[in-house]
Amino acid sequence: MFNTISNQASKLLNLTKSKNNDSKTRIVTITSGKGGVGKSTFTANIAYLLSRRGFKIAVIDADIGLANMQVLFDLKPRFTLFDYIEGRNTINEIITETNYDNISLIAGKSGYQYANLKNSLVLTRVVNDLKNLNNYDIILIDTGAGLNDYVQEFLSISDNILALTTTDPSALTDVYALMKMLSINKDKLLICFNHTKNYKIGETIANSLVNLAKKNRLNKNFMVEYIGNVSSSSNISTTSRLRKLFVHEFINDDITKQFHKVIDSLLKHIK
Ligand SMILES: Nc1ncnc2c1ncn2[C@@H]1O[C@H](COP(=O)(O)OP(=O)(O)O)[C@@H](O)[C@H]1O
Ligand SMILES: [Mg+2]
Repeated sequence: MFNTISNQASKLLNLTKSKNNDSKTRIVTITSGKGGVGKSTFTANIAYLLSRRGFKIAVIDADIGLANMQVLFDLKPRFTLFDYIEGRNTINEIITETNYDNISLIAGKSGYQYANLKNSLVLTRVVNDLKNLNNYDIILIDTGAGLNDYVQEFLSISDNILALTTTDPSALTDVYALMKMLSINKDKLLICFNHTKNYKIGETIANSLVNLAKKNRLNKNFMVEYIGNVSSSSNISTTSRLRKLFVHEFINDDITKQFHKVIDSLLKHIK
């Protein structure tokens, strides 16, 4: 399954490469093989720190399993991504302003039947239309777990893919599967470790993944960039439960500093 990316995905890639060259908007897709590693929490927190650095951010909640970005931002959006896809609303109507300056949310919907949309390139259209508004510096796409067609469509249209993982062996197996798939027609994967106390541990494991890729002769031009780690803290889950952002509430915490380091590295590596 991971050895070939569908023809449709490759066509998409070419399509999006030829368009949008004049847009200043950069797209970063946050993914992981495994669910529950902290993608949505991570995405919401980096959205905030990026906005504080002066970037205009749009977050797309693309997790059809559990669309919880609206909870993290404490919002009740009127419309979702799918209202646009199904033609009920305009692109502007599905953009919900958050309570934070310079962060907009395109809300998702849990349990949406993606099978209805298959092969219609609708997700590509949403991202392109958002990009063409030229309103945003960075679009962050929070995907669900797994490497299904739906997630693959988002990956194929993204110039920048960030895998969030833990050091858990099953999460690492999934990241390697992702590397294998992306190495066919992408040039880079950014890796960040969540629930990981020490920067060096993440770096060592990222290096082992790179070595495994070499041993298995994955495409030599495919690079893996380690961009940092985020420790575990009950304050992260507590702030999320209270519908607040950790990095906003704990400005001077060591974990917020880890997030800043991740942002420094992310900004160096995205195109
Ligand atoms: N660094 C962390 N420390 C403690 N709890 C975390 C951390 N990152 C995420 N969590 C918690 O883990 C759970 C799953 O996070 P979530 O962002 O929903 O994962 P995903 O989007 O990958 O499914 C949530 O309860 C969240 O608060
Ligand atoms: Mg999530």
